[in-house]
Amino acid sequence: MRVLGIDTSCDETSVAVVESGRILAHVVRGQSVLHEPYGGVVPEIAARAHVERLLPALSETLEQSGGKDALDAIAVTTRPGLVGPLLVGLSAAKALALVHGLPLVGVHHLEAHVASAYLLPDPPQPPFVALVASGGHTVLYEVPERGRYELLGQTQDDAAGECFDKVAALLGLGYPGGPAIEKAARDGDPHAVELPRPLRDAPGYDFSFSGLKTAVLYKLKGQNRRRSDPDVRVPETADLAASAQEAIADVLSHKAVKAARRRGVRRLVLGGGVAANARVRELCVERAAAVGIEVRFPPRELCTDNAAMVAVRGEELLASGVRDGLDLDVSPYAE
Ligand code: KG4
Ligand code: ZN
Repeated sequence: MRVLGIDTSCDETSVAVVESGRILAHVVRGQSVLHEPYGGVVPEIAARAHVERLLPALSETLEQSGGKDALDAIAVTTRPGLVGPLLVGLSAAKALALVHGLPLVGVHHLEAHVASAYLLPDPPQPPFVALVASGGHTVLYEVPERGRYELLGQTQDDAAGECFDKVAALLGLGYPGGPAIEKAARDGDPHAVELPRPLRDAPGYDFSFSGLKTAVLYKLKGQNRRRSDPDVRVPETADLAASAQEAIADVLSHKAVKAARRRGVRRLVLGGGVAANARVRELCVERAAAVGIEVRFPPRELCTDNAAMVAVRGEELLASGVRDGLDLDVSPYAE
């Protein structure tokens, strides 16, 4: 089956054509320069930018993959995400499905992040536990078989990626914060600053990250130095970045490995923008290996938002007989 996927849930305009888990064409157009001055994604700006970028991205993808006549279906992210941006993708998907008489299927963005692992050359087979840590959500799923996603736990407040972004903003490292923190952390000591790990050792599989951001703020306010002085600022920023990254990686890896152990599965799959982080990956692999669990994750460019994962999740839904009508709608909510 050859499926065209569209993702416009946040600030990447992405279109892909996937056939049986193999990427035939894939375009991702970022917008971070537009949102950078505001320190985060502005929904209205994102929606307008999707309108400008989507049709060229569609043409390019179809050109690379042999045109629309070879398509079997259209898959599009419908939730969760920013409503305006989601509607741009959904409108295009409906138009394509209607004009070319193709089946249409709406995709859950977080399930698609899990399904991105199926794009690996040797895809992981269920059963496994999946951690999706992105800018808007942090969730743990159990995947007992292909196409089934059972929610084990989620963040009670900020997402892990949001925490990276907010800490980066506090440290003046710019947007998006995750890659900036990762870079700054290379020169820092991950144990230099003591930071809280809320819910790390609590029962269950939920997360909490808002206290970490506040703790970083207090560390900064409590410092009796001029932050504008480059001699002082660089090592402090690096240490705080490394310590915040370590706290997030510690909580994520601890909970994910605990979930896999408790659910009796021997495989852990990572997805979402935060799964692009080298320390998060490293700590997950290290802790999982210690208890005989294998960790699988897609390459960095398939951890962050992309339409190839939407097409793969679409393939799963279509294979199980799911078809949506032209009354398909979007939702900001994950559930
Ligand atoms: O999955 P994603 O691309 O979009 C959402 O669905 O939200 O995730 C974006 C999030 C942002 O918060 C970004 O800062 C974070 O993922 N991120 C990272 C890294 N790359 C992206 N966080 C830590 N380290 C990274 N290398
Ligand atoms: Zn995402």
